[in-house]
Order: sequence, then structure tokens, then C-alpha cells
Amino acid sequence: MIEVKNVFKSYNGEAVLKGVSFTVQSGEFVSIMGKSGSGKSTLLNIIGGFLDADKGSVLFDGKDITSFSDKETAAFRCKETGFVFQSFKLIGTLTARDNILLPAVLGKMPVAQAEKNLKELSQAFHLEEVLDKYPDQLSGGQCQRVAIVRALAFSPKTIILDEPTGALDSKTEEEVMTVLSHYNKIKGMTIIQVTHSEKVASYSSRIIKIKDGELATEGSAVANKFMHR
Ligand SMILES: Nc1ncnc2c1ncn2[C@@H]1O[C@H](COP(=O)(O)OP(=O)(O)OP(=O)(O)O)[C@@H](O)[C@H]1O
Ligand SMILES: [Mg+2]
Repeated sequence: MIEVKNVFKSYNGEAVLKGVSFTVQSGEFVSIMGKSGSGKSTLLNIIGGFLDADKGSVLFDGKDITSFSDKETAAFRCKETGFVFQSFKLIGTLTARDNILLPAVLGKMPVAQAEKNLKELSQAFHLEEVLDKYPDQLSGGQCQRVAIVRALAFSPKTIILDEPTGALDSKTEEEVMTVLSHYNKIKGMTIIQVTHSEKVASYSSRIIKIKDGELATEGSAVANKFMHR
């Protein structure tokens, strides 16, 4: 279970998050939606342990990640929670393959298991042909898929994605969402994603809306006009 409790964040005195609280159960698939600039990426970065909140806490199964030491944060990032940044943040000096394997290696996942996951995921995401390329030799959509595969490949319990299909065409978007949905339903992975797309949100079971730094509604049901579930 993930508990976000009364999180506040300001940049240069300007309040972006004004006391955000919500809970995500293990195995849930939740979408966060809201206007550009409403604080979605700020919130995700705090939940992923990449940004400090000014106030409030974020608990994963009762453990407060805001009080983790650097060592605990490092272990959390390469063992427990996969994170896909809005800007991907691939490492430019590593090939796609090495970007994908890095968290698994840092988290000391057995090599055979990491290689198996890499093979399966790069097939599912059509990345086999580009694994030896560097990020600046990849298209935006390929970079986005490498970033998603990097977050999935070490088999984390939770995956957090910031607009995971923003750079993808609609067919690839559907394929990516189908894989994520599979990981949620079959493997019980908890997923939190930010999206502007109602279609992408329809793969999740709950939508949290953020407006002016506060939650507009917690848990509006997903409209049934798309038939993925
Ligand atoms: N590092 C920063 N320094 C100063 N201001 C920032 C910083 N990061 C974000 N902001 C500001 O905080 C607000 C929220 O930004 P955030 O990136 O969280 O929005 P968002 O909801 O993810 O938007 P989008 O849908 O465009 O990605 C914006 O006004 C942004 O300009
Ligand atoms: Mg954003």
C-alpha cells in the first residue's frame, strides 16, 4: 500500500502542492490527471523519492521514504519501484540494453533473470533491433519504450510512470498499455501513471484529479467507453 499524506511543495515561494493525500492499494492501477502545470510531475517525483517534499510523508507498506538514508533510497529505486520520467532520463553514455539492465545490476538481480526479462520485454516493446544503440540514436518513441522497459525489467512491486505514451503513435500506445495492464492484472504490479489521455486512463481502475495543487476528486470511476477492462 502507498500512502501519500498531506504533501506540500513550493518552488521559490510559489505553492505547487497544497496538502495532497491519497492511498493506493497494492495491486491497484491508478491514473493521475490534471491540467499542464497542476503539479502532477512534482507529485510523482516526490512519490518516487526523486524530490523532497516541504512537508508531509510518503509511505510504501508503512515505510516512510521521505526519511530514507541515501543507501535506502538507492535500494528502493533499483529493487522496489520502477520510475519512468516525463523526459525519460536515459543515460546517454550507455546503450539501450545497458540502460535497461542498470537497475537490475545495481539491485543485484541474478543475471539470468535480468537477461530473461530484457529479452521478453524488448520483444513485447519491439526494441530488439535497437538494443545496441545509444539514446541519441533512438527516436523519441523508442527512448520512451526503453525508459518503460528499464522500469519493468527488475520486476519491481510498483511502477510509476509520467505520461508513459506521450511520444507514441496510437498503435504503439495500445501495445504499451496492454503490456502494463498485463503486469497489473497477471503479476499484481501496482501502477501509478500520469496521463492527459482519457484513453490511456481507461486502462486503470481509478482516476485521481489534481487541480491548483489539491485533489479535485479521489477515485472517480473510469468511464466505460473504452473496452480494455
Ligand atoms: N524545478 C522547478 N523549479 C521551479 N518551478 C518548477 C520546477 N518544477 C516545476 N515547477 C513549476 O511547478 C508547477 C508544476 O509543475 P509540474 O511539472 O509538476 O506540472 P505538471 O502537472 O506535471 O505539468 P505537465 O502536464 O505540463 O507535465 C509549474 O508551474 C512549474 O513551472
Ligand atoms: Mg508533468
